[in-house]
Amino acid sequence: MSSTSTTVTSEHFAYLAQRTLREDAFLSELKAAAQAAGIPAIQIAPEQASFMQILLKSARAREVLEVGTLAGYSAIAMARALPHREQGGRLVTVEFEERHADFAEAWIARSDVADRVEVRRGAGSDVLRTLPEHSMDAVFLDADKRGYPDYLEQSLRIVRPGGMILVDNAFAFGELFSESPRDREVQAVREFNEIMSKTTGLHGIIVPIGDGLWVSVVEDDPSSQD
Ligand SMILES: C[S@@+](CC[C@H](N)C(=O)[O-])C[C@H]1O[C@@H](n2cnc3c(N)ncnc32)[C@H](O)[C@@H]1O
Repeated sequence: MSSTSTTVTSEHFAYLAQRTLREDAFLSELKAAAQAAGIPAIQIAPEQASFMQILLKSARAREVLEVGTLAGYSAIAMARALPHREQGGRLVTVEFEERHADFAEAWIARSDVADRVEVRRGAGSDVLRTLPEHSMDAVFLDADKRGYPDYLEQSLRIVRPGGMILVDNAFAFGELFSESPRDREVQAVREFNEIMSKTTGLHGIIVPIGDGLWVSVVEDDPSSQD
């Protein structure tokens, strides 16, 4: 028994990565092709993809929204945890860079989940406002960090009660505690982490996987939060 968490080192990450579902050849090829096309390699890690698939499967999620498609890596990984389109499986992923959206659409079309993934082009804050209330079982936010507070507000409207809000990069690209961070978005992440931890009606925790993943559940009844 232990009342404190074990400090997770890169050795632990390597250990757990070796013991979860590995990235398949298709996703490895997608990553290589994206790099060759000059798309930055900032997709989620394979062990994070596996963890998110487990979350979506255990929540029996059908409809999922992502903000930040990039090359389509996480969209394809998440869609694999959803039922086929005829059974209601649908993943909507939002991207405002045409080049990224073009690349992702081409690879999604060749993937095993082409039936259930739709790329929506546009800015996250615009597209989210077009989505109906309680229309999604889960949301994954992985785009511009300064937009996160607005995406969270919209997600709280879009996700059904009992649904999940996942948010990437809670550890601010490894610079959360840096006094002179190189990345300009670090301060936005710090501020967002405070917002997440104080939002009523949301039960969340930062899981130390990838670059820190917020995993939160929208309470059925906001007054029931512990
Ligand atoms: C970290 S990448 C997403 C990685 C992807 N989720 C994955 O793991 O495979 C962030 C993406 O968000 C896009 N993005 C940034 N700001 C955006 C905005 N305001 N609206 C929509 N997409 C945005 C970027 O162009 C980039 O493709």
